[in-house]
Amino acid sequence: TATMTDWQSEVKELARHRDALVLAHNYMRPEIQDVADVVGDSLALARHAATTDASTIVLCGVYFMAETAKLLSPDKTVLIPTDQAGCSLADTVTAADVRRWREENPGAVVVAYVNTSAEVKAEADICCTSSNAVEVVDSVPEDVPVLFLPDQFLGAHVRRVTGRRNLQVWLGECHVHAGISPDDVRRQVAAYPDAELLVHPECGCATSALWLAEEGVLPKERTHVLSTGGMVEAARAATASTVLVATEIGMLHQLRKAKPGTEFLAMNEKASCRYMKMTTPDLLVRCLREGRDEVSVPPAVAERARHSVEAMIRLGE
Ligand code: 13P
Ligand code: SF4
Repeated sequence: TATMTDWQSEVKELARHRDALVLAHNYMRPEIQDVADVVGDSLALARHAATTDASTIVLCGVYFMAETAKLLSPDKTVLIPTDQAGCSLADTVTAADVRRWREENPGAVVVAYVNTSAEVKAEADICCTSSNAVEVVDSVPEDVPVLFLPDQFLGAHVRRVTGRRNLQVWLGECHVHAGISPDDVRRQVAAYPDAELLVHPECGCATSALWLAEEGVLPKERTHVLSTGGMVEAARAATASTVLVATEIGMLHQLRKAKPGTEFLAMNEKASCRYMKMTTPDLLVRCLREGRDEVSVPPAVAERARHSVEAMIRLGE
């Protein structure tokens, strides 16, 4: 269209040439979000990867997201603009850790957040994302113990919502979300007392935000703990003129697009994920031109990891 920049037209043309679907996570740089075919949370991107007719998937996000796409579409080519885009949370647990934890807890079901390597997914029974973690844990019979990994804050959130006492949590965290503190919440809520609150469950402040809501310090009906996709829906429904957002700051772009008249502010402006910012406009063009970096998962790992991801995808159908 007339409003497309040269760079956007180039990306669209290269993608058409390659028969590629361009998927972008909600934390990507605004330029990347605006050129993508689909923008969404981890679960939405996985679902699109599983169902697309395109022969190539370009995953603008971090490596575990591209790996998940490859697991769901093994016959497709999956590309990521840079394979250096890791995740500090995924790095907190290894396959050997999971094997040891399972040995110590025979009979338990292992639930792995998608923010893990394919090797870790291969050791799990079922995966989850922040948008379906409660549903996944609820699908495990009540008397069966659950080992939840690797995010301690999401794990604590799931335990609170499900009321499940036989759920153990791995002590991993995302450095970006863990850094959004209860003090940030107190400061921003004091400055914007009428604001609505959107909080990602990976946040260090998620527990205290809900606790403060229970205590009446925060407005309970205006405090929502949500995945990034859930935040976009909540933004559309928001009635307050200011919304405080506790997650990676790339999120603000989709929220502002979803509800232009509303003011969306970061709970902590320093909450930026350097891995998510590695995908630049230049690297996306390189990716589409040169077909790199290509994502592959060793077959022995892929087969077992796929079971865990597919068990999750089936649950939502
Ligand atoms: P979402 O699934 O909510 O998009 O979260 C992904 C992520 O990396 C959070 O840091
Ligand atoms: Fe990983 Fe945290 Fe970055 Fe999400 S924001 S990709 S959990 S390091």
